[in-house]
Amino acid sequence: MSPQKVSRENHPFRYERIAAEVMRLIEQGAYQPGERIPSVREMSKQQGASVSAVLQAYMQLENLGAIEARPQSGYYVRHASDTEFPEPESSSPGLDPSHVNLHDLMMMAMRDSLNPSLVQLGAAMPNLELLPTERIDRIMASLARSTERVSHHYEIPPGLEDLRVQIARRAVMNGCQITPNDVVITSGGVEGIHLCLYAVCNPGDIVAIESPMYFGTLQLLEVHNLRALEIPTNPREGISLEALQFAIEHNPIKAVLTISNFNNPLGSCMPDEKKRELVSMLARYEIPLIDNDVSSEIYFSEKRPMVTKAFDQKGLVLQCSSFSKDISPSMRVGWVSPGRYKNTIEWLKFTTSAATARLPQMAIAQFLETGGYDHQLRRIRREYANNVAMLSQAVMRSFPSGTRVTRPTGGFVLWVQLPERVDSLEVYALALKNNITITPGYLFSPSNQFPNFIRLNAAVWNYPIERAVRRLGELVAESAG
Ligand SMILES: Cc1ncc(COP(=O)(O)O)c(C=O)c1O
Repeated sequence: MSPQKVSRENHPFRYERIAAEVMRLIEQGAYQPGERIPSVREMSKQQGASVSAVLQAYMQLENLGAIEARPQSGYYVRHASDTEFPEPESSSPGLDPSHVNLHDLMMMAMRDSLNPSLVQLGAAMPNLELLPTERIDRIMASLARSTERVSHHYEIPPGLEDLRVQIARRAVMNGCQITPNDVVITSGGVEGIHLCLYAVCNPGDIVAIESPMYFGTLQLLEVHNLRALEIPTNPREGISLEALQFAIEHNPIKAVLTISNFNNPLGSCMPDEKKRELVSMLARYEIPLIDNDVSSEIYFSEKRPMVTKAFDQKGLVLQCSSFSKDISPSMRVGWVSPGRYKNTIEWLKFTTSAATARLPQMAIAQFLETGGYDHQLRRIRREYANNVAMLSQAVMRSFPSGTRVTRPTGGFVLWVQLPERVDSLEVYALALKNNITITPGYLFSPSNQFPNFIRLNAAVWNYPIERAVRRLGELVAESAG
């Protein structure tokens, strides 16, 4: 391979030259679809370039849809069929804030998710087969036997110290310098976000959000009577910083709410440098950032994305997370690292629900301590990367032309843009008649930005689901006329 062939004028950065060279080799067929390209280390040796330059080049090629990362395996040239449907473009919501009024739709979606006779492509439920449920059950049983009622005490805020120690240790390992005293345990991630909104906003205030945004969070804005200002968001790289800055300069924004790692439903992941810029921009305006971080452990590339909290120098980032997606949603154990709002969050937690149940906190602390978590996460990442790829390929095979599909690099949902004239609520009703649930795009925007989008859950992949996706494709084609 001769890097000289790619000119310095067109590609001033080293990583760009490497990306352009690999792209040229793919186009000339030197690397075939499905074939593994040299590992980051091999390429760095071949090119005499740093590992980080090669990583950046591979990230660029991933963004272009030319290659894909497969966990614990390497980088592969994508098949032409994988790139058949383009990705949705960045969203372009209006400039005015909206009140949220989604509770009826939300309750409808919630009821569907409880119906075991439906093929569940709607709710973003994790795959229970991949969670360490047996291990957690055994730990709980043994704790319940051995702790002589200790597990029945109130565990008042900030929550179980052993668990906070484990959370802080993992954060530090991931480059985020927090201590156990910086953490407040909550009853799931949603309670954490609820407390953060309570701490930093008053009714009527404006909160800037990514567009689209997970409907559970939109519900919180509705309950708090806050107005949502939707900011254009890119399906790969998250919220537009230029648009956010413009919004801040023209509105009294009280807080910004993001899912910087693997937005639900987009699967977008804000590049680490962009996270740094976001945090420093908000610090200049003294605006708090509530970052919903429930999915950042479920990444498909080789490296865990940073968290915005790692760049927080003024205590303005309130990071919310939980163990719902990778240990058990029913434990209801989450946490907040609320920076300068720690005392307020502790107080609000106490006044809202007094305490989070102690036994699940003890069980999760022990699970984290005894070392099974990383093994568990590696398995989840591998399986979800595969299931997301299988689902998106099935959509590409079955849905009509004019469809667009995201290329998530983590999490387990797929965001599908249907042809313009298709209404997602109509597809929802047709799907239900066929015993299939989906989540209509209406739920992800208070101002109906996504009438022809649907979100699909990719946590499970099996034959009934494959069949359901095929049927869904037929229904969308019918609806598209
Ligand atoms: C983006 C996002 N945030 C929060 C939650 C809820 O988290 P928890 O169950 O820990 O309250 C979900 C669950 O689907 C989610 O997808």
